[in-house]
Amino acid sequence: MTPDSLTEPTAAGQPMPRRPPGVPVEIAAVSQVFRRAQLETQALERIDLAVKPGEFVAVVGPSGCGKSTLLKIIAGLLAPSTGKVEIAGRLVSGPYTDLGIVFQSPVLLDWRTILDNVLVQIDLRGGNLAAYRDQARALLAKVGLAGFENQMPRELSGGMRQRTAIVRALIHEPPLLMMDEPFGALDALTREQMRIDLEKLWLERGQTTFFITHGISEAVALADRVIVMTPRPGRIERIIEIDLPRPRHKAVITSRRFTDYCEDITECFMRHGVIQY
Ligand SMILES: Nc1ncnc2c1ncn2[C@@H]1O[C@H](COP(=O)(O)OP(=O)(O)O)[C@@H](O)[C@H]1O
Ligand SMILES: [Mg+2]
Repeated sequence: MTPDSLTEPTAAGQPMPRRPPGVPVEIAAVSQVFRRAQLETQALERIDLAVKPGEFVAVVGPSGCGKSTLLKIIAGLLAPSTGKVEIAGRLVSGPYTDLGIVFQSPVLLDWRTILDNVLVQIDLRGGNLAAYRDQARALLAKVGLAGFENQMPRELSGGMRQRTAIVRALIHEPPLLMMDEPFGALDALTREQMRIDLEKLWLERGQTTFFITHGISEAVALADRVIVMTPRPGRIERIIEIDLPRPRHKAVITSRRFTDYCEDITECFMRHGVIQY
């Protein structure tokens, strides 16, 4: 990895972040059964999904329906019981490394500064740290962390720590970003701002994004397509194309169409007894 591979000159001669083309992800007939002693848990049942390069896909489903399992299978952290995953046309047969992952908890190293936590990503990949320092600072600034680069994680709020985790997941410009309930531990206001900022980053960078949530409106606000899952064993109940303009400003997410999408998904969950009034 060199800085040259991440930048290209603009007409004005200023280096600009390269916009990596997102990769296509193909999930074919993936099922997962966990066996432990006498207990057998069918977590996923025949998941088929083709994600387009650069697409933003949100997966919503009740707790325990297999969302995290699906993410682990896509990332090659878990081999599916049956079926297969291909990323950029290649079979995933072990941990797939050309991606960024964000979990609900930021998992930062307490003894490293915010900047150094971001650079862990480069360090682990054997990249040239000095070459990435400026880009890390710029990306931190973009998510509102300018001036916090030399602080320690404990000195930051939960939202700021999670922003750091997002920057760490993006610093190497992966063509695939996987997020497992990344805003789940945040307060509602922080969550809303993070959603807005994530859309901005995605619009600029164009990485294929796989976003797991149980927030219905969050899924609709972010995604090109929302994948609605059934309770365990998780199957795809519906795939809903979200035909709303971007960026999804306030007028968009308060529009009638937006609330119709949310209602549609809510009704899916009511049919399955996931939401009961
Ligand atoms: N390693 C494992 N061994 C046994 N059961 C598991 C394992 N991982 C997940 N499960 C079970 O699979 C189901 C789906 O889990 P998970 O994918 O974490 O759901 P979600 O992320 O949608 O809440 C749950 O019933 C869970 O208990
Ligand atoms: Mg989960």
